[in-house]
Amino acid sequence: MADIPLKIHEADVVIVGSGGAGLSAAVQTGLAHLKTVIISEVFPTRSHTVSAQGGINAALANMDEDYWIWHMYDTVKGSDYVGDQDAIEYYTKNAPSTIYMLEHWGMPFSRTKEGRIYQRAFGGQTRNFGETLAHRSCAVADRSGHSLLHTLFERTLRSDIAPYVSYFSEYYALDMIRDDSGHVIGVVSWNMVDGGINIFFGKAVIFATGGNTRNYRTNTNAHINTGDGWSIAMRAGIPIEDPEYVQFHPTGIYTVGNLITEGVRGEGGYLLNSEGERFMKKYAPHVLDLASRDVVSRGMAQEIREGKGVGSKKDHMLLKLDHLGHDFIMDKLPGIWELAYKFTGIDCTKDPIPVEPTAHYHMGGIPTNRFAQVVIPEGDNHEKPVPGFYAAGECACVSLHGSNRLGCNSLLDLVVTGTQAGRQASKWILENDIELPTPPVEYLADKTAGGTIKKIQNLFDYEGSVRMDEILEKLRDSMSTNMGVFRTEDSIKRQLDVLADLRKKYKKVGIQDKGLSFNLDLIETLELGSLLDISLIGTTAALNRTESRGAHYRDDYPERNDKEWLEHTLTFLNNDKVDIKYKPVRMKPLTAPTFQPKKRVY
Ligand code: FUM
Repeated sequence: MADIPLKIHEADVVIVGSGGAGLSAAVQTGLAHLKTVIISEVFPTRSHTVSAQGGINAALANMDEDYWIWHMYDTVKGSDYVGDQDAIEYYTKNAPSTIYMLEHWGMPFSRTKEGRIYQRAFGGQTRNFGETLAHRSCAVADRSGHSLLHTLFERTLRSDIAPYVSYFSEYYALDMIRDDSGHVIGVVSWNMVDGGINIFFGKAVIFATGGNTRNYRTNTNAHINTGDGWSIAMRAGIPIEDPEYVQFHPTGIYTVGNLITEGVRGEGGYLLNSEGERFMKKYAPHVLDLASRDVVSRGMAQEIREGKGVGSKKDHMLLKLDHLGHDFIMDKLPGIWELAYKFTGIDCTKDPIPVEPTAHYHMGGIPTNRFAQVVIPEGDNHEKPVPGFYAAGECACVSLHGSNRLGCNSLLDLVVTGTQAGRQASKWILENDIELPTPPVEYLADKTAGGTIKKIQNLFDYEGSVRMDEILEKLRDSMSTNMGVFRTEDSIKRQLDVLADLRKKYKKVGIQDKGLSFNLDLIETLELGSLLDISLIGTTAALNRTESRGAHYRDDYPERNDKEWLEHTLTFLNNDKVDIKYKPVRMKPLTAPTFQPKKRVY
């Protein structure tokens, strides 16, 4: 039997994830003088928020007339009408004050000649309810996520916050703990540096575990984006909302997937097929390359289907930007120049960048209300809060993005929802007399985390007959082939068969590395388990949804069907079985009139 060390910690708030959402929450819980611990697989400034490029949306009207209600309309339309309109109103209305808050905290926004925050055009962002393009994305050149993450991290180091916030970096979350009444009271984690189980008890737990698209061959995500937060929540009986909606960003670098910001097209770049044609005029005659991402990615995939792809395999497109000029590119898009050069050898001030749609973002997540409280169905109530549990950022689903997120709404999402989660968790703790369980330590560990500890021990003790990387490669390839931009009943069913086989094989995976320190064999094996879980719920939900909406496009059901499908999916995973329920979309905004579903054209 492996000799695994065990440690127990106590805090008021336990935050899992140190990206933009986790840090935004920590600022608030720190300001409330609550003892806050942040568990994260990486040091905060290495979280995936760092790689966001294009900017963060708010109707500041710095470049041209703009109002939050126009931003709200675009977001509801972009969501293909399955976004929750109360949350969308709250979030678009709060966007300008969020930007000014970040500016006052030192975020070094690019500036206009007059010294105002620079705003660029982005896909699906319009003025006057679709009339003309809006310039709404507040940018720090093309390194907006990097600046945001550092600004937030620095804020947590301020003298009125830092004493209350402790970082446990390189701790991998394994499971969450709920007491007998369902209250979430802690997180079980693995200390990656020295090895060992660490249990963090807290009066409230905030999940800010980020995105999950490492289950696709070509994706924009960091290696840590493996769906652990979703998987942990599901093991604790929490459903995942709308997992069928996977966003494919149109411009990933061909074969490697790294993001080339939509800001390139916002600044005047455009896509070309093998015939040198600006094909987007066929798919979005009004705004062309600045249609929403689902529309552009489908346009590219359609061109490829028709044999108009570029290269020997005719399987990608070209993104042209050299006409913007060397100086402009180096000023506004320096990171893009560097990425394109490093990954393709191409100097984009001279030649176009080879690009393909790349898995980028999950619109779904852990269901929350607009107060970032995690909610689950109970009886007739579709949204009963789970005591002590909050979720924010990409791992959560409010739902701000419905079935398709607009570019630059995600940085805003993670600051607004992270701030909400921190404030609401603080309020909950300060207004309730919450008792944490008390040691004896061994009893407590066994009672609350016995199953998790046993699972880790078994992995150390088991040699296994299958290697995890075999499964991972098959998972990525098959998800890309069968659950990509276009789906059909056949392809989805094929993927369910593949997943059943891979999940069977996964039970035979053992780890070769039996050491405690930086055991990446262990971590990657556990991550693979999460990737298999999220793939299964997404694929099952996609089979059920017999319509096309936003990023979920079914060749066999090409139309949106509001009569039957204007609702959210809730997926529950019990071992290998997925149960599905549905819940209504919150169509009523807080003060604005409801934006009724209509045909979505760009
Ligand atoms: O294209 C981009 O810069 C990505 C932005 C986003 O996903 O919000």
